[in-house]
Amino acid sequence: MKCLTIQPKRFNQHFPDSGFTLQHHLASLGAFALPALLALSRRMPADSVEYNAGTLVPGQDPAATPRNGLSIEETIERIEHCQSWLVLKHVEREPIYKALLDACLDELYPHAAQSLSGLHDRAAFIFITSPDSVTPFHFDPEYNFLLQIRGEKTMHQFDKYDRGILPEAAIEEKYVYASSHRNQPFQEAFQAKAHTFTLKPGDGLFVPINAPHWVQNGKEVSVSFSITFHSEQSDRIARLYKLNGLLRRKLGITPTPVGQQPRKDALKHGGIMALRQLKSLWV
Ligand SMILES: [Fe+2]
Repeated sequence: MKCLTIQPKRFNQHFPDSGFTLQHHLASLGAFALPALLALSRRMPADSVEYNAGTLVPGQDPAATPRNGLSIEETIERIEHCQSWLVLKHVEREPIYKALLDACLDELYPHAAQSLSGLHDRAAFIFITSPDSVTPFHFDPEYNFLLQIRGEKTMHQFDKYDRGILPEAAIEEKYVYASSHRNQPFQEAFQAKAHTFTLKPGDGLFVPINAPHWVQNGKEVSVSFSITFHSEQSDRIARLYKLNGLLRRKLGITPTPVGQQPRKDALKHGGIMALRQLKSLWV
């Protein structure tokens, strides 16, 4: 089964730095129908399901994110009317979703490998959201192809290099404290710089690592399949941000932003890897 339709020229123009759309052929699969997702949610460990009320704003204060007062099962059963947002994390633990993830990434990897190396850590997530719900402004540390299965979803994506929108220290924070909340402060003035993509069933969208975005659901229930991976380059970026974050917080130094001085980055990264090597010899 062919999962994706990729336009190589468009892929190469944008990947891995900016968003672009492609087409997929998964929208009619029974594995993504609500009864199948309800059954899946019952098999998932509780800590792999995150959900809350979906009546949020782009700049939502994470501490004030409202619960929806329902169980996971009730949330999925009533998703059309309960104004909620729910994600099933790491669904690749289930054979059918692992097979779909692998099939999609096997098609994507030859294209991605033209600009990246060492592609690894495949993972899949399923988002189930009520009409009109909002995913607040945030960024993610992995390459993500968001495949829209059901309903309409509009993603507002921002330049990953615009530090007026996402400060260097906010990125560092994410890598130092992996468990820190994903929401970022949002200002209305940012919106003029958004690249806006409206996805219908069959559409897919690439979301670059560290490219901030927020999502507005359409007027129907939405189901999206998110397939993610990492690379040697994203691992390197993660190590550099983590080091810079520690330098800033522990030593009060303002580090040179990642990517601004490649030679400095290379020195830092060489140091990190040498230390890791030493540590592994020591144990
Ligand atoms: Fe995201």
